[in-house]
Formats: sequence, structure tokens, C-alpha cells
Amino acid sequence: MTQDDAKRLAARNALEFVEDGMSLGLGSGTTSAIFIRELGERVKGGLKVRGIATSAASQTLAESLSIPITNFDETPELDLAVDGADEIGPGLALIKGGGGALLREKIVESAAKKFIVIADSSKLVKQLGRFPLPVEVIQMALPNVTRKLKALGLNPTLRHHADGSRYITDENNFILDCAAGEIPDPAKTAADIRAIVGVVEHGLFLNMASFALIASDQGVTKVDR
Ligand code: A5P
Repeated sequence: MTQDDAKRLAARNALEFVEDGMSLGLGSGTTSAIFIRELGERVKGGLKVRGIATSAASQTLAESLSIPITNFDETPELDLAVDGADEIGPGLALIKGGGGALLREKIVESAAKKFIVIADSSKLVKQLGRFPLPVEVIQMALPNVTRKLKALGLNPTLRHHADGSRYITDENNFILDCAAGEIPDPAKTAADIRAIVGVVEHGLFLNMASFALIASDQGVTKVDR
């Protein structure tokens, strides 16, 4: 099975948890895009749902598929959020934000009663840290935050686009990707990063996922926290 096939399998499986009338958090990234497209097919077939997207790209995709979009004024709590991850460690500790959407993802997923992670099995790790940990930073604070992340040994690098321009998030911030190496204590790393003034959010999603649907040649495995 190719990685794309596995992503599709996980995304389709997550649709089984979607019920008529639900409010949904719509994730970002390639696996979530498959989920949103499949959801669009169901909406075309008469399923009634509404969603809040975790990125401008996912919102555009959902709108193009006529999936109704809501907001936190209308819908303060979501029934279910479905999103991918860059790494899935023990206890369903996640690294997210490879696509740059970590801030909205954390906002949306923390507002959901249930958060399902969908991924192919390459995302499962014994310890987080192989994937660089994204940290979203206020632009003017970049030099200070960079220095402090370096002092923590987290090896930050400013994210750029392929054309060399600086990557700017949907919320107009920079991203520092931290080549931290192994993260043996994600809660401590999360607290250390959060304590830095000028950090908006980090890509460690701890104690947030309800369960993960992991697809491989063996099919889909439900991994509980
Ligand atoms: C977006 O910011 C990320 O958190 C994505 O959810 C993550 O990068 C997974 O993306 P893929 O499904 O493309 O691997």
C-alpha cells in the first residue's frame, strides 16, 4: 500500500465517526484534505454538518465542496475534530504544524469534544523529536525567542518558502522549526517553550487526541491514549 493509499484509508475510516447534524473541526495537511474531500461527497449526498477549518487552505477547500462553515460565536463547542499529525508518540502526544497551521489547529481541536488523529503508520514514533518541532512566534520577537530556544538546546531555524521568502502563518506570525532531537519529556519541553514571551503557540499537542486511526498494509488500527 502506498502512503497516499494509507492516508485515504485512515481518512475514510474517520468518516464513520461523523453523524448527521454534527459540528466538525476540519484539519489541515494532505490527510485532512482527503477527509474533507470525502466529507464533501457525503454532504453532496445529503449529510448535514457544519465545520470550522484549521487553516485558510482547508476553509477554501471546504467551501469549494459546499461544506457549511460556522464559527465559535455560532458554535462554541464542536462535536468532533479530525486532523493529521507529523508525529504520534506514546500517549498520543503529537507534533503538529508541519503545514504551518498549528495555532488554528490547537484552537479548533481544544474546542472539540472528541479529536481523532488520522495518519499512515509512518507517523508513529517511540519518542517525539525526529520531526522538527514548529514554534509560532510574533514577528518582532523573533531574535529574542530564537535566542531563548537556542539556550534550551532546541536548535531553532526560521521557516522559509522554497523561493527563499520567510514563511508567514495565517495569523501573520513566523515559524521557528526546532530540530530538538529526542524529546524525552514533552510536557516539560512544552512548558519551557510556553514560558518564552513572544511565543504564540508550539506544535506539541499533549493530552488532546481522543484516539488515532493509523492505516498500514494491515488495515486501520485504532490507537487509544
Ligand atoms: C498542519 O499544520 C499539520 O499539523 C498537519 O496536520 C500535519 O502536517 C499532517 O500533514 P499530512 O497529513 O500532510 O502528513
